[in-house]
Order: sequence, then structure tokens, then C-alpha cells
Amino acid sequence: MHLPRAAGAATLRVSVTDRCNLRCAYCMPEVGVPLLPRNEIPPLSELAGAVRWLVERFAVDRVKVTGGEPLVRGGLPAFVSAVAAIPGVREVSMTTNGTRLAASARELAGAGLGRVNVSLDTLDPVRFRELTRGGRVEEVLEGIDAALAAGLTPLKLNSVLRRSSFRDDVPALLSLASEKGVEVRFIELMQTGTEAAWAIAERVTGAVVRDWLVSEGARVTPLPDRPNAPARRMSIERGGQATATGWIDPVSHAFCDDCDRLRLDARGRLRRCLMDDHAFPLVDLLRRGEADVAAAASIYVGGKRPPDEMTIGSAMASIGG
Ligand code: 5AD
Ligand code: SF4
Repeated sequence: MHLPRAAGAATLRVSVTDRCNLRCAYCMPEVGVPLLPRNEIPPLSELAGAVRWLVERFAVDRVKVTGGEPLVRGGLPAFVSAVAAIPGVREVSMTTNGTRLAASARELAGAGLGRVNVSLDTLDPVRFRELTRGGRVEEVLEGIDAALAAGLTPLKLNSVLRRSSFRDDVPALLSLASEKGVEVRFIELMQTGTEAAWAIAERVTGAVVRDWLVSEGARVTPLPDRPNAPARRMSIERGGQATATGWIDPVSHAFCDDCDRLRLDARGRLRRCLMDDHAFPLVDLLRRGEADVAAAASIYVGGKRPPDEMTIGSAMASIGG
């Protein structure tokens, strides 16, 4: 556990909205998505103020903008430039589903966005439409090309592994990643508040997928890991192509001890861990001009601990994936 630290640096993930234009089965129920009332979602200017406050106190040097889908919220380029201008912020990045990147990649890069992670679980248009309940994979592919053209690199793909289709999806994603010169990160499906039976049936570990790749003739070699990163990096060589991959095995691999992440959720509440239901209402307290917010925040952050169990009570979209 590396927080709070006088020296060293932390990553802050900021969820700017719980809304999304897709409905991925592992993230949201198909209908009846419990959305936050609009008046509980702080204005972006207030969120940027809270980011500045945290950067000044917790040695945050990297900020990742997440959602929901960040690009469904208006005014994002202005938010990105406000965050990028905070002294001490070395990098602003974004996790996006990519469907609206084609239209905005250039403007975001101009505003100071450094790079993007694009969620893409399958290249098959039918499976993509089913998994996201209505999405078009072509939009994401156009978004990836626009992001690469705008220099939002290194670009990473985030792919959630599913038992029923990894044998088709993983090889296709590896080929796409090596064609485009991007890294692909394979993420173990985590059971969240939604679709429990589906999640249990579809969960497969990264180890099973890697063993399968090896049984199909691939060569898997470890690459150097970045410090404090949850992904274990490996090069995968198949059919003369080598692809840099990262494996995020949150359920089967304990990386919590190295975690240096803080989160601001879509309501402007500070969260020390995805799996920890206890949140600190930072934006509210700052708005009310409460005394001693800094001391209380330090105590909250100082209580950051690895969770007992890797399950999340709420939908990922409201906390920020
Ligand atoms: N399990 C694993 N990954 C998830 N994500 C969202 N919900 C889950 C889940 N239940 C990931 C998406 C996306 C990022 C924002 O979070 O794949 O890449
Ligand atoms: Fe939207 Fe991302 Fe959730 Fe899919 S995983 S529904 S793209 S927020």
C-alpha cells in the first residue's frame, strides 16, 4: 500500500458520468439501469477543483478520466484542459468505449489528453452488438484509428475475457493489436451488481486463456512490468506476429499491495478502492467549506487496505471502471 506518500506518485481515476450509450452485459443490466439524479452529479468545474485539491495533497501525478462513458458528457475537452493545466499533473488519459472518439479525438488531443484506453472485447459485429446490447463495432474501430491519428498514444485496448468466445476473440484481438501497433490488455470478468448468473458462467481466468494460446502453438514471454500497475505484461508470438499484452487478473492475482490508486466517483466522492463501499464525500465537503477536510481525507486515504473479497456491490459505471 503506497498511500498517502510524501514522495512518489499516485494515480487518480475520475468518473465524470455514470451514463453510457452502451449496455455491456458485465457492466449494466439491459433495462432499469439505476442512474444518479442529475443534481447529484457535480458540474465538471467542481470536479476539476476537487482534482486540483487532491493533486496538491496526495502527490497525484496521473489522472485518468473514466465513466460510464466519459464522452457522453458535454464539455469534456474543457475539463481535460483544466486538469492538464494543474501543476504536478504529468499525464491525463481516458478510458472510453471508443464509439464517439472518431468525432472528438483531435479536439481532446488539442486539449491536453495524452492517451486513451479503448474497451473492445470482440471484433465480431454480432457478438459486439449482443454484448453491448446495440453497439456497432465499426464505430469503435473508426475511433481507434482517429485516436492513433491524433497521437493519443500509447493506445491500449481493454478486453474482458469470456469463456464462450475467447477462442475466437483473443486471436482476432491479438492480430488487430499487432497490426495497429497497440497493446491489448485482457481483463478477467469481475462479478458486479449485474447479471450474476451470466458472469459466473462466462468467467474464465487469464491463466486458462494463456494455456490455451500455448496449446495452439503461441509463445508467451514475460515483459518488464511497470511499477504499481495491475497488468502483468507478456509478449505473445503466434504465426510470426508478436503482440504486447497485459493481463489483469484481479480475481486470481493479488496486486492490491502495490495499488496507488484513488478514485473520484460520478458523485464527486473519493474512493480508496473499487471493492470498498465506504466513500468520502469530497466534493460535498469542499462545497460546504467544511473545516478540516484535509485531515479527514488523510485518515480516509490512510485506511486504504486490500479488500477481503473481490466483489463489487454497485455497477462499475457509477464508480468508474
Ligand atoms: N469485469 C471486468 N471488467 C469490467 N469493466 C467494466 N465492468 C467490468 C467487469 N464486470 C471494464 C471494461 C472497460 C473498463 C472501463 O472496465 O472492460 O474496459
Ligand atoms: Fe458503457 Fe463501459 Fe459499462 Fe460498456 S463497460 S456499458 S461501454 S461504461
